[in-house]
Amino acid sequence: MITPRTLVDDLLEALVAPSFTRTGYAVRRRLFGWEDPGAWTLAGRTAVITGPTSGLGREAAGSLARMGARLVLVGRDRDRLERTRDELAASGPVAATAVVADLSSLASVRAAADEILAAEPRIDVLVDNAGAMFAQRAETPEGFERTFATMVLGPFVLLSRLAPRLAESPDGRVVSVTSGGMYTQALPLDDLMFERGAYDGPRAYARAKRAQVALMREWARRLDDRGVLVAAMHPGWADTPGLAASLPAFRARVGSQLRTPAEGVDTLLWLAAAPREGLVSGRLYLDRRARPFDRLPSTRLSAADRRELWGRVAALTGEEG
Ligand SMILES: NC(=O)c1ccc[n+]([C@@H]2O[C@H](COP(=O)([O-])OP(=O)(O)OC[C@H]3O[C@@H](n4cnc5c(N)ncnc54)[C@H](OP(=O)(O)O)[C@@H]3O)[C@@H](O)[C@H]2O)c1
Repeated sequence: MITPRTLVDDLLEALVAPSFTRTGYAVRRRLFGWEDPGAWTLAGRTAVITGPTSGLGREAAGSLARMGARLVLVGRDRDRLERTRDELAASGPVAATAVVADLSSLASVRAAADEILAAEPRIDVLVDNAGAMFAQRAETPEGFERTFATMVLGPFVLLSRLAPRLAESPDGRVVSVTSGGMYTQALPLDDLMFERGAYDGPRAYARAKRAQVALMREWARRLDDRGVLVAAMHPGWADTPGLAASLPAFRARVGSQLRTPAEGVDTLLWLAAAPREGLVSGRLYLDRRARPFDRLPSTRLSAADRRELWGRVAALTGEEG
C-alpha cells in the first residue's frame, strides 16, 4: 500500500546515495518509528554467523549475544575467533563457540559444517555475512575464482549442510548479507569464474553478490514448505575495516555520511530476530523494507536463469542443495 511515508522512502531509494548513507537510515527510522533491536529476544536459540571477527559481523555478533542467542562463530582464523569470543564475554554473559572455516575452501566448509552439526542440537538462525573483495584474480587450491568461492560456493555448501537442522527449528531463518553494488552488474552464467575479459575486483564482487541473491531466492522457494525464512539484506554503505581496505577512495569521499556498523546491521537483526509476521521470505531488504532485485533491466535473472545458476553451483560444489 502506498502511503506518504512509503513515498518518501521510495524517493530516497531512487536517489541511491541518500538511501545508502546514514541519511537513509535516520530518515526511515524516524519515518516508520522503528522498534529498537533490543526489544527482540533470541533466548534459547542458536545463531551461526560467518565473518564475526570484523566490521558488520562483529557488530551483529554482539547484538545477537545481547538478545540471548547462543552463538556459533565461524571464521578462518582461530586466534581472531578466540579474541572475538573474549571481547563478547567481556561485555556480558555469552554462550559462544568458535568453529574454524575458510569460506573459500569447500573442504574447510564441509568440515566446519560437520563440526557444527555434531555439536549443536539446534540451529535457528544462519547469518551468511563473510565477504571480501580482491584487487587481483586468483583461484583457490580447489580451482575456483576466490570471490565466487568465498561468497557463493562456500556459503552454498554451508547452507546445504545446515538446512535440515534449520528446518527442525520452530522458526528457522537464514539472512544473507549482500551489497547494493550488485545492482551495477549482470551475472554471466557461462563465466562464473570470471575467465573472460579483464578482471575487475569490484565487478567480480558485484557479480558474486548478484549470484548470492539469486540463490537466496531459490533457497527461499525450496525451504518454504519446511518453514525456514530465507532473505537477503544489504547494509547500505557502512564504515568497516573491510570497506576501508577495499575501497579507500570511496570511503574518503563518503566520509562522515557512512553508516556506523550498528546502523548497517539493523536490518540483519530485524530479519534474524523480529517477530515473524511482517517478514517475507525470498526478498531483498534495505532498512526493513523489501527493495527491487534490479535497477537495470539488463541485469535481471529470470526464474529459469536462477534455476540454471542453482544447477551450476550444485554441480561445482557437489551439493544437492
Ligand atoms: N561495509 C559495507 O559498506 C558493506 C556494503 C555492502 C556489503 N557489505 C558486506 O557485508 C559483509 C561484511 O563486510 P564488512 O564490511 O564487515 O567487512 P570486513 O570488516 O572485512 O569483515 C569481513 C568478515 O568476513 C570474513 N571473511 C572474509 N573472507 C573470509 C573467508 N575466506 N573465510 C571466512 N571468513 C572470511 C572476515 O574474516 P577475517 O577477520 O579473518 O578477515 C571478516 O570477519 C560482507 O559480505 C560485505 O560484502 C558491506
